[in-house]
Amino acid sequence: MKIISVVGARPNFMKIAPIIRAINSYNKSINISQPTSHTSPFIFHLLVHTGQHYDYEMSKVFFKDLELPEPDIYLGVGSGTHAQQTGKAMIGFEKVLLKEKPDLVIVVGDVNSTLAAALAAVKLHISVVHVEAGLRSFDREMPEEINRLLTDAISDYLFTPSTDADENLIKEGIPKEKIYLVGDVMVDSLLFNKEKAKKSDILAKLGLTNNTSITNLSSLITDYALLTLHRPSNVDFKDSLAEIVSALVEISKHIPIIFPAHPRTMKNLKESNLLSFFKQGTINQGEKIDQRIYLLNPLSYLDFLNLEMHAKFVMTDSGGIQEETTVLNIPCLTLRNTTERPITLTQGTNTLVWNKKDRIIKEAIKILEDREKKGECPQLWDGRAAERIVSTLQNEIIK
Ligand code: UD1
Repeated sequence: MKIISVVGARPNFMKIAPIIRAINSYNKSINISQPTSHTSPFIFHLLVHTGQHYDYEMSKVFFKDLELPEPDIYLGVGSGTHAQQTGKAMIGFEKVLLKEKPDLVIVVGDVNSTLAAALAAVKLHISVVHVEAGLRSFDREMPEEINRLLTDAISDYLFTPSTDADENLIKEGIPKEKIYLVGDVMVDSLLFNKEKAKKSDILAKLGLTNNTSITNLSSLITDYALLTLHRPSNVDFKDSLAEIVSALVEISKHIPIIFPAHPRTMKNLKESNLLSFFKQGTINQGEKIDQRIYLLNPLSYLDFLNLEMHAKFVMTDSGGIQEETTVLNIPCLTLRNTTERPITLTQGTNTLVWNKKDRIIKEAIKILEDREKKGECPQLWDGRAAERIVSTLQNEIIK
């Protein structure tokens, strides 16, 4: 049995890592030295990286942190318009498929590389597994929503993280038999790496503690909020970006904000002349300054997880961080007006604040006054989603 998994952009790496680990354990569990007619087949697995994300901080450091094997094949797609990126990934991946002739292709998430790989495979009549299927923001202006809809429509096996995703797929007419509720692979990575992340020295490096081996909150000197921002709808328009920055400036008068910035955001802050509101570098103890929004380069997986665990609250427009904060029980303000992960609103710690200054400030103040939303962890977000995926593959697909 030959399976090719595909990654391309930062949020793919933590989703594929637990699946590869589960495939390796499966391979170890089968007895190929004495095969019988009932022995499950060995899975020969190849990892393809399209190269949609190519910077060290956006890609390679994640391979290191997540202990991912080096990609077997790298397509070097790089940046470009959506059509260029998707097209280049399709052309490159089709060549791989023609040469390798896999039985199955696994794609994860909703980035351009996800759709490109699924399209190339399905046209060659190769079965496609989509992990994290069924999520919908119902906002077709989001490129990811188009990627989600199309990938789900052409995939053969749809592995979903939560029951709302199953319901979305059924409403779209996808046969029940194709849908498998397995839980969230992003949470698998989070739970698997939590202890390792606690050992990161990022807090000390940023001047947030004087203790380099900090592992608990009590030795934390400063409360801080953590921010990520990269959605085109927030950062590609000067007015939205300026409104968000003005809310951040207000909040930062009460609590420092740590902001590891995506390259797209960094570029747009520069172009919009908004960089003066940020301080680049670390916090010195006892420092008294007006602008306390600390701008950093993108962080590694473990460093970011550490900052997330110890934050007073998180502000983000990312998808995955809404899930991670729910599992970590950290309040999350999502700077969007929709979410494809509604379970983080209904069960988790997430609140939508859009890019509206008043809403962002109002909800941040609530948290600062310890009136934050309380949440609980959704069903099957237990660190075993990848195991369930591989046992489904074994029982239903590769038998
Ligand atoms: C992509 C995903 C998005 C995901 C995000 C996480 C799509 C449609 N979007 O968005 O869902 O949340 O990744 O990071 O697939 N750049 C670099 N170095 C890199 C990669 C990008 O400098 O390694 C810069 C380039 O200027 C590029 C811009 O960032 O034009 C955007 O990159 P791109 O891959 O097009 O989309 P993201 O915004 O990263």
